[in-house]
Amino acid sequence: MKLSRFGERLAKTSGIGRLMDDLGTAIAQGCEVCMLGGGNPAHIPEVEAHFRRSAEQLLAADGLFERAIGEYDPPQGNAAFIDAVACLLREQFGWDIAAENIALTNGSQSAFFILFNLFAGPSAGGVDRKILLPLTPEYIGYSDVGLTEDIFVSNRPQIEHLDGRFFKYKVDFDKLKITDAIGAICVSRPTNPTGNVLTDCEMNKLDSLARSNGVPLIIDNAYGTPFPNIIFTDAKPLFNANTIVCMSLSKLGLPAARTGIVIADPKIIRMIAETNAVMSLAPGGMGPAIAASMIRSGEVLAMSRDMIRPFYKAKADFAVDVIGAEFAGANYHIHTPEGAIFLWLWLADLPITSMELYERLKRRGVIVVPGNYFFPGLAEAWSHKNQCIRINYSADARTVERGLRIIAEEVKAAF
Ligand SMILES: Cc1ncc(COP(=O)(O)O)c(C=O)c1O
Repeated sequence: MKLSRFGERLAKTSGIGRLMDDLGTAIAQGCEVCMLGGGNPAHIPEVEAHFRRSAEQLLAADGLFERAIGEYDPPQGNAAFIDAVACLLREQFGWDIAAENIALTNGSQSAFFILFNLFAGPSAGGVDRKILLPLTPEYIGYSDVGLTEDIFVSNRPQIEHLDGRFFKYKVDFDKLKITDAIGAICVSRPTNPTGNVLTDCEMNKLDSLARSNGVPLIIDNAYGTPFPNIIFTDAKPLFNANTIVCMSLSKLGLPAARTGIVIADPKIIRMIAETNAVMSLAPGGMGPAIAASMIRSGEVLAMSRDMIRPFYKAKADFAVDVIGAEFAGANYHIHTPEGAIFLWLWLADLPITSMELYERLKRRGVIVVPGNYFFPGLAEAWSHKNQCIRINYSADARTVERGLRIIAEEVKAAF
């Protein structure tokens, strides 16, 4: 088989592809596996009851279901859903937006594929532009989306030690270099994998740096406010004509609906719609069909505030408590959990790499994600990259407890 460069890049085994395989294999193996890897949100029965009710209403209403499954939406996405999202964001945050500021994609992952390749890679003027990630660790799903190699440049963070065994990553603004070769800046907030929430001050600085250098600031709000609102700090959402905010229905509990939402200047929205048309004619309509009425009525806000956020907050607190008990005597640190659905564990003097720890844990039926995957664009050697693991804490208490106990045993046995 003779593949193109595109074929060789996208069809090779990527970090994310390998992890998805591990998840699939582990789930197929059955109940003894402690699944603390992957990014699947939890099944929250009260939340799922809302989706079920909405699906039942869709089926019961005359012609609604048939329209949802039987017609393509426009390439920008379902118009009624887009109107509902625009209205919600105007009311909640006072953002000056209308339907022309919003496009849907097949999951926000597709939005990142489109956006990163719009702004990074070889340009007609000869400049090979990059996406700047101001701070790593950053989301693994970005790593392989470039149509050309090496579309990221990124920086090491500053590490602030907090009380107890907590720490927090901070953007190191002294090291941030925005040259002509930067096409856009991107941050996830809350961050996957660390649960970090960049402070308002950090965001405002990034915003003014982006504006003064004439590049967009992409904010990945997959876990953020107003939905699914898995955010435990008082962070202020940011939007203006230079920002591109990406949201998703996935962490609300609808990952299979594959619905991503991009909020940006109309020029960018038109480019997303054009790319949607080429790649897939139109984004899927089932997610919008199920969620539109909840967004229109504001039900999604109450669900996020009263069910989803407290659910994950309790899970995070529980996992931290279990780590405190199981890891006693080990040298560990936890990134302060400010949002998202993960704990980021830093094992500073571990004599094996996090990849080797991952392999040992897999043999014992515990799946985590080794930290080295989360440094896209960070070329420099840094031992920290091999000292961390990501733990998804959204499983049931027994699984989390058992998984963390085995992790602690393996960490202690490594010395
Ligand atoms: C930070 C972040 N951004 C984007 C995504 C992509 O989500 P989706 O394509 O399901 O909207 C994920 C998924 O885990 C994520 O964690």
